[in-house]
Amino acid sequence: MAIIIKTSEQIEGIRRSSKLAGETLNYIAPYVVPGVNTEYLDNLIEQYIRDNKAIPATLNYNGYTKSSCISPNNVVCHGIPSKEVILREGDIVNIDITTILDGYFGDTSRMFSLGEISKEAQDLLDTTKHCLNLGIQQVKPGNTFGNIGYFISRYAQAKGYSVVYEFCGHGVGLEFHEDPQVDHVGRKNSGPLMKPGMIFTIEPMINMGKPRVTVDRIDGWTARTIDNKLSAQYEHTVLVTETGVEVLTDVNGEY
Ligand code: MF3
Ligand code: CO
Ligand code: CO
Repeated sequence: MAIIIKTSEQIEGIRRSSKLAGETLNYIAPYVVPGVNTEYLDNLIEQYIRDNKAIPATLNYNGYTKSSCISPNNVVCHGIPSKEVILREGDIVNIDITTILDGYFGDTSRMFSLGEISKEAQDLLDTTKHCLNLGIQQVKPGNTFGNIGYFISRYAQAKGYSVVYEFCGHGVGLEFHEDPQVDHVGRKNSGPLMKPGMIFTIEPMINMGKPRVTVDRIDGWTARTIDNKLSAQYEHTVLVTETGVEVLTDVNGEY
């Protein structure tokens, strides 16, 4: 499958959906407090997305039955919201939201801290966010996709962390997961070239310990670090413009 170059009409639709996904993360932030269960957060997320005339892309996606992924501590990604998962003081947690608005997809996630977290956990969050930013800095026409993973992995590994290679970023917009696969570990100047009108996610997952993950044998989704050490992830949907990048899910003016 080829990498889709979006038309200006499609770009506008994906821009609106991406903005809603980012705003949903802003909306949920004040509810992410010690004692809350992740199913309660998921219900609020679903209602907010529906109130904004969109639907959660994860709902009924390949058998997934929730409106978000909520992944605490050693969960790398695809944490299933549940009444049994209660967030506690000192936890870190990723919330990942994908919206479908007028048929267009926007995908973003970020980390939340529950009260006071350890210095080690805070450094993992800061590093992971910086890894996403390093990836975004590589987005411009003519650059290779491999350079995204090259600069992300070089930085994370220099800080003593490992980079998850079993899950990747992806083209997004007309479908949930389009070509290309956006690796977060990469060789310099390898892979396809970026062109204006391409839209994809960058979503590095960075681990304190080993890079390997194991998927829960019972629920078939929850991906945990193999050594149960902490993992963090940040994700944005980005557009390659004529001159560089537009971060479509940036609703807080960070880029
Ligand atoms: N939002 C995730 C991503 O960034 C995908 C979640 S798929 C699900 O690609 F089925 F687990 F929800
Ligand atoms: Co994604
Ligand atoms: Co996502």
